[in-house]
Amino acid sequence: MLPLQVAVLASGHGSNLQALLDAFAAPAAPARIALVVSNQAAAGALERAQRARVPTATIAADGQDADGLLALLARHDVGLVVLAGYLKKVPERVVAAYRGRMLNVHPALLPSFGGPGMYGRRVHEAVLASGARVSGVTVHLVDEQYDHGPIVAQWPVPVRPADTAATLAARVLEAEHRLLPALVAAFARCGGEPRRALAAAAFAPAATIQPDFADALTSR
Ligand code: GRF
Repeated sequence: MLPLQVAVLASGHGSNLQALLDAFAAPAAPARIALVVSNQAAAGALERAQRARVPTATIAADGQDADGLLALLARHDVGLVVLAGYLKKVPERVVAAYRGRMLNVHPALLPSFGGPGMYGRRVHEAVLASGARVSGVTVHLVDEQYDHGPIVAQWPVPVRPADTAATLAARVLEAEHRLLPALVAAFARCGGEPRRALAAAAFAPAATIQPDFADALTSR
């Protein structure tokens, strides 16, 4: 079976991209990072991709050129899109074309601490301010709203009394680096079919697989 061709969209540092590049570097891996796209020419993610000899593309800073993005994804035969620290809204036509085949990773337990403006440090500051004892990672399918589509998996991470936004972010990021590649591998093993990936997701006992995920996809 040909590996699932994955495009990663990233605006920043790209440590999640790195986790994916590392996880799928072997020629026999079930997925291949086929393309890295950024709306920021200076994004560390682009450098990481170039180092790994993965094709890169830079798109308009506002990310709103739907035709350009669709053409790029088609040219690389992309079967799964992963938003890994991508800070712009994906145009609705692209969301529609990849419905059920576009994942986002968010550094908190959605539906709390998500939505417009909730990214980076602000997420962890809000978690600390709330007094929550648990934060975590959410991977969800992308829909037309920020941080809103059907949740695929969550991985809880403790909030410690002495935490700052930086220490909490680092602990959550470690879990992101484990959960995201595991889910991409599950999608790949199921030929990019998300409902079957749910069944295969039993791979990650520490993660909570959302029971309503399959139902949420029935309209697909
Ligand atoms: C991660 O915390 C991710 O959940 C969020 O943005 C951050 C990106 O980090 N969406 P990196 O660029 O992958 O290092």
